[in-house]
Order: sequence, then structure tokens, then C-alpha cells
Amino acid sequence: MKIGFIGLGNMGAAIAQAVAKEESYHLLLSNHGEERARELQTSLGGEVLSNAEIASQADFIFLGVKPNSVIPVLESLQEEIASNPTAIWISMAAGIDLKQLMDYIPSQQLIRMMPNTPVAIGQGMTTYCLTNQALAPLFEQVMQSSGHVKQVAERQIDAATALAGCGPAFVYQFIEAMADAGVQAGLSAQDSTYLAAQTLIGSAQMVLSSEKHPAQLRQEVTSPGGSTIAGVVALEKKGFRYAVIDAVQKALKRTKKLGKQ
Ligand SMILES: NC(=O)c1ccc[n+]([C@@H]2O[C@H](COP(=O)([O-])OP(=O)(O)OC[C@H]3O[C@@H](n4cnc5c(N)ncnc54)[C@H](OP(=O)(O)O)[C@@H]3O)[C@@H](O)[C@H]2O)c1
Repeated sequence: MKIGFIGLGNMGAAIAQAVAKEESYHLLLSNHGEERARELQTSLGGEVLSNAEIASQADFIFLGVKPNSVIPVLESLQEEIASNPTAIWISMAAGIDLKQLMDYIPSQQLIRMMPNTPVAIGQGMTTYCLTNQALAPLFEQVMQSSGHVKQVAERQIDAATALAGCGPAFVYQFIEAMADAGVQAGLSAQDSTYLAAQTLIGSAQMVLSSEKHPAQLRQEVTSPGGSTIAGVVALEKKGFRYAVIDAVQKALKRTKKLGKQ
């Protein structure tokens, strides 16, 4: 199967890295700055082609350009899109819905996905919706080395974008703050970052592997009059949970605007 990539920035390249783990896929790579596509070809294999060649030859085409470039790119490829009607197009653009894409892909073989950057190391959380349910097994097969993949209704994709698409940035901010706190408390920066990141992984695994609500797990680490509750109260005082909820809401508002620019 020929898997094409148009746009190989942070996200397009992360998906290409995940997809390349399956050796039977032949990667067709295109990027505005060709050097980036050549670098990826060196590490992942495949061929560097033009957008037009990918549109007319690939079976699966990931569109990894910025949201405001999606429609101009599709407009410029109308002839090639018509010449390759069985191709399945996958957009990862925040805020651009299936209806907007259908105007440019008449076959309507369309998937809208929302990945996050951990797909590059097989730990992604990708949500997707599609025009035709028959495409789902093939899509999940192509994405199988990327991490977790979950189909949702299209009306939920913007929310998934704000939470899981933007979420890694919020989590990195949290790890950075924890690591600074560790340094202030006397740990080395390296140990501190390691402890913070692994604590996050372990706690997240506890949430995923137990039936317990996160609030219950939190209660189980807070002994009466102890040090953990002192820290929990300090976070409450600073509005920690509200700050997180507000961050996701702001990201959601911005996501909805992106599709209308
Ligand atoms: N980053 C994330 O965490 C994330 C998460 C979920 C979804 N997304 C979505 O992923 C898409 C890409 O985001 P990104 O963060 O990866 O942006 P990015 O790093 O800026 O990547 C965009 C890439 O597209 C290339 N490009 C621009 N115009 C092109 C054209 N006409 N033909 C071929 N390639 C072209 C750019 O090349 P040059 O740099 O050479 O111009 C660049 O490499 C967006 O639609 C975004 O909404 C991103």
C-alpha cells in the first residue's frame, strides 16, 4: 500500500514515523521545504515526490499542512484528485470539518483525525471520524503503531483536539513546573525531570488500569494531616483545577476559530 504525506512538519512527520514501522507500506513524502522530506526519507525510506504525484498515486494520503493551507492545497490538486478516486484522504487539521473537505474530495473517501505528537513513539492518542464506516478498519490498521486510536462522533472532535491534541503541551508545562520544584528542593535538574515524568506516567497508568475515580486515587495518597494534603490544598488555593479546565476551554474556542479562517 502506498501511503502519502503532504506536509511533514511536527505532526505529519510524527505520523510518518509511526506508519513507517510497518515495513510493507511504501511511503511517498512531500513537504514545502523539500529538505525536510529528504531527511525523513533517509531515516524512514520511501520516495520524495511532489504534492501532485502523491495525490495521483497514493492509496492513503495524510494531509499535514496547517489548517489555513488545507483548502488551497486541495484546490491546487483537483485534477489529480479526480484521477485517483479510490484514494483515501486523511486530514489532521484542527477545526476543518468533513463537510468542508467533501467539496474538494468528490469521492468522499475521507477521514478527519486528531492525533497528538506522542504518536511518534507509539504512545499517541488519536481520535477520528469519517464519511464511510467501511474505512475504519483500514485506517486503524495503518495507525496501529501510533498508539491508541478511538473513533468519535464528529461533533466531539474539537473537544478531543483541545484535550488530547493540545494536551501534551499542558502536560509538559506541568512536568517542567514539577521539575523546577524538585530543583528548588535540592534535586538535580536531570533527576527532578525524571522523577516528575515517571510520576506522571505511573499515576496515569493507575487511572487507566483501575476502576477508581481519580479523586479516589488522590484521596488514597493523602493521609490525614500529612504532607500530600498540604500540597493538594496549596494547588486548590491557586485554582489549579480551574486553570486546567480553562486552558482546555480556551484551546477549544481557538480550535473552533481555526476552521473558519
Ligand atoms: N502539532 C500538533 O501537536 C498537532 C496536533 C494535532 C493536529 N495537528 C495538525 O497538524 C497539522 C500540521 O501541524 P504542525 O504542528 O505539524 O505544523 P507544522 O510543523 O508547521 O507543519 C506544517 C508542514 O506543512 C508544510 N507545508 C506547508 N505548505 C505546504 C504545501 N503547500 N505542500 C506541502 N507541504 C506544505 C510545511 O513546510 P515548510 O515548513 O517547509 O513551509 C511544514 O513542514 C495542522 O493542520 C494541525 O492542526 C497538529
